[in-house]
Amino acid sequence: MKKSKVLVAGKLFDDLHETLLGRYDLVSNQADEVLEPATLARLMADREAAVVTPVDRVDAALLEAAPQLSIVCNIAVGYNNIDLGACTARKVVVTNTPGVLDETTADLGFALLLAAARRVVESDRWVRGGHWQAWRTTAWMGRDVHHARLGILGMGRIGQAIARRAAGFAMDVVYHNRSRLAPELEQACSARYVDKDQLLETSDFVLLCLPYTPATHHTIGIAELQCMRSDAVLVNIGRGGLIDDAALIEALRARRIAAAGLDVFENEPLLQRGFFDLDNVVLTPHIGSASLATRRAMCELALQNLHAALSGAVPPNILNPQVLGARP
Ligand code: DGY
Repeated sequence: MKKSKVLVAGKLFDDLHETLLGRYDLVSNQADEVLEPATLARLMADREAAVVTPVDRVDAALLEAAPQLSIVCNIAVGYNNIDLGACTARKVVVTNTPGVLDETTADLGFALLLAAARRVVESDRWVRGGHWQAWRTTAWMGRDVHHARLGILGMGRIGQAIARRAAGFAMDVVYHNRSRLAPELEQACSARYVDKDQLLETSDFVLLCLPYTPATHHTIGIAELQCMRSDAVLVNIGRGGLIDDAALIEALRARRIAAAGLDVFENEPLLQRGFFDLDNVVLTPHIGSASLATRRAMCELALQNLHAALSGAVPPNILNPQVLGARP
């Protein structure tokens, strides 16, 4: 039987990769180099399916260069690297990996929140620099996390996992979301719905875990930073582009807000150099879902989607089910 032609655009765990070798006609980037758009287009040219990661841009130009392509499986829940409209127009099935990374990403959100509030990274650098000479009553004061107000923008599965953690710190949790949660979910998260302005004006901690879309572009910009408390801490575990990074650098430099913890950036990995000069920001390289168990679960789910789609079944995490009805 003819094997389906599959591209794996980023490194998979070796044992998972091996399960694909006999099954498909495989081209894969196990060296894990970031593929330039032209290289990706060349590798995709005769492929029927592709497993991609957030660094691979699947847009109309790429689809044009890959006329056989009918399945794209993203190893991520966020899919702003994929032009879903263009895929749907060409009847290309797109899948993602929801559900398996919520708790791990929420852990990192809380790690950034605590690190920024309690100046963990800044003081670590200071200790390593050999500056510590004595305990001082008024040195290294940070912000209390316990009993503070946490405002969550984006109350999907990850936002709810953050809220559950906040209960352990006796935080007062408010949230804003496109749609309000059902009362029983609000109760389970001990979270109150407020409007965005109220959230920004009253929260000690503002945490973003929204998807990035044209509607959420620069959810936090100059105006929003001005609304926030001057002792507030901002955390972003959603996507680059939710925050206007230039405006945030300026606000952190001028201490218009106290601190930030950021896992995602505009134009990452080429983030704005201004961040590097600031002590009041903690920077991590988009590692929200990066635990061994979770990254494995994401890869496994992406492959489940691939196998299902290639065998003619409905993939469990299809994002554009309308194309199935539309396929010949
Ligand atoms: C996701 O799944 O969207 C994550 O950001 C990837 O780590």
